[in-house]
Amino acid sequence: MIATIIPNKKKHYSVLLDEIISIITPQYGGTFIDCTFGQGGYSKKILEFSNTKVISLDRDKDSEKIASEIKKKLKNRFIFNNKKFSEIDTIDLRNEKIKGIIFDLGYSYTQIKNLEKGLSFNSKGELDMRMGLNKFSAKDAICKLDQKDLENIFRYFGDEKDYKKIAYKITKDRKVKNIDIPTLVKIIYSSKKKKYYKVHAATKVFQALRIFVNKEITELIYGLINATKILKKNGIIVVVSFHSLEDKIVKYFFKSLSENKSVSRYMPKEQEKKNLFKVMSKKPIIPSDKEIKENISSRSAKLRFATKQENFNDFETDILNKFKYLIDIENYSKKL
Ligand SMILES: C[S@@+](CC[C@H](N)C(=O)[O-])C[C@H]1O[C@@H](n2cnc3c(N)ncnc32)[C@H](O)[C@@H]1O
Repeated sequence: MIATIIPNKKKHYSVLLDEIISIITPQYGGTFIDCTFGQGGYSKKILEFSNTKVISLDRDKDSEKIASEIKKKLKNRFIFNNKKFSEIDTIDLRNEKIKGIIFDLGYSYTQIKNLEKGLSFNSKGELDMRMGLNKFSAKDAICKLDQKDLENIFRYFGDEKDYKKIAYKITKDRKVKNIDIPTLVKIIYSSKKKKYYKVHAATKVFQALRIFVNKEITELIYGLINATKILKKNGIIVVVSFHSLEDKIVKYFFKSLSENKSVSRYMPKEQEKKNLFKVMSKKPIIPSDKEIKENISSRSAKLRFATKQENFNDFETDILNKFKYLIDIENYSKKL
């Protein structure tokens, strides 16, 4: 997963912005939830259209600075919450009918460039990787988890081939030295069978640790479930994802609730089964060649969206069971 915004001569890019605007149609007004405010790229664009309101969220408190600038100008049309999007159902919606909910997953360029966050393998400091509102850091995981747990994190969250050797070396080396970022990068290099890579050799392990530290799988699943609960009929959920695990979850969630009938306990027996979502396009929308040329980080982006067809919120989904094997790995955090 790569940052979705990169600066080009002081300019920030928000991935698939035009496509998102054409899907959620803010030109006709309405209230939108931006679940991943970041640098405010999507929120600002929506607010350019009159008769729109944006309720935004970000787990990173640093986003609050940009949000407060917008708030100064557009007091009645913009709200920022320093919250995780899994808690979207706890925000004050002020009786607003939500027209669209947007997720732009991952982390921003600003976050990766902030060396204190320890997200980048180019940092020289301690392993951290917390995006905000976290309970433990990557250092806690590296220092305290069993070899087998580390293996599973690297294997399932990073698709790292040399997961066994890397986990073995970490647990051996941590007995005698501090594992900071440069040390971990050295361990990864020395564990690799293949020595030359198109991308940095540490990319997969760093992605895996970041997913684990920020509980990104659990966040995404509960984010989707709770967003669906607060959405009314005709509301849209749009998700931009950056790696195959995320896309698999989003695709399954929309597909299962659009092809399998959903149940509401509050409906009479005969009517109770309905398809909750309509998926407009089976294939994900991807950035154009032009966008990829301007912002190489956008190349792995995939956008999926679905419209809620019914007003009930009490729906059944098997998504927690389907991805239990991944949630169980994130739950190793209970040992920390
Ligand atoms: C890719 S950036 C969003 C960029 C934004 N769309 C823009 O155009 O400026 C992702 C943001 O989502 C935030 N984030 C990631 N996971 C989150 C979660 N579970 N809850 C709330 N915010 C989250 C990160 O802190 C980061 O600021």
